[in-house]
Amino acid sequence: MKTQDYYYWKAKKEGYRSRAAYKLLQINKKFGIIKKDYHILDLGSAPGGWSQVAVELGAKVVAVDLNPMKEINGVIFIRGDITSESIREKIREIKDKFDAVISDASPKITGNWDLDQFLSIELARHAFNIAKEFLKPGGNFVVKMFQGSEFEKAYREFRRYFKFKKLHSPPASRKRSAEIYFIGKGFNPKPKN
Ligand SMILES: C[S@@+](CC[C@H](N)C(=O)[O-])C[C@H]1O[C@@H](n2cnc3c(N)ncnc32)[C@H](O)[C@@H]1O
Repeated sequence: MKTQDYYYWKAKKEGYRSRAAYKLLQINKKFGIIKKDYHILDLGSAPGGWSQVAVELGAKVVAVDLNPMKEINGVIFIRGDITSESIREKIREIKDKFDAVISDASPKITGNWDLDQFLSIELARHAFNIAKEFLKPGGNFVVKMFQGSEFEKAYREFRRYFKFKKLHSPPASRKRSAEIYFIGKGFNPKPKN
């Protein structure tokens, strides 16, 4: 069975809204991003698999997506665009600092590879800028990126801000997919140049 089918059926059976849930479970097992009582900001959250996982781990979640998301106990959902200025105000009204910011946001795939990877890195940069405002010092950051021409520059920028940094492809990611996750732990708001 292909990896994507395996996780698709597993998610159905285990009550997760997306097979993406397993990516976060695997990332968390390896890197310990989310812990009990943490406050988590989940960007690009719909349909809600990552939020479900965070709640199960004992965290409280604020989630943001362009698309609607069905209610989850322990999650405050904001429908909005992470690339807009106004989203910060809406997040701030709920909470101004988080222990971890996680982003699985991805653009609608057009099939034009250069464009898709460019848009994906743009989203990752927006997620990172939100993380810079909302992460507590020492906090954790996970963001999805597509590898391509814009990737290296963004990666070099993100890594400066974290004590521990790693690129990781969880087993639940499709084998031939270009997606990879940047994992940053120990946020430093003012890194040296
Ligand atoms: C792969 S899905 C996320 C799956 C989610 N992690 C889960 O486990 O259910 C990517 C999401 O990113 C969202 N997205 C894309 N661009 C966005 C933007 N500018 N602002 C907010 N959400 C966005 C999409 O609407 C989509 O729901």
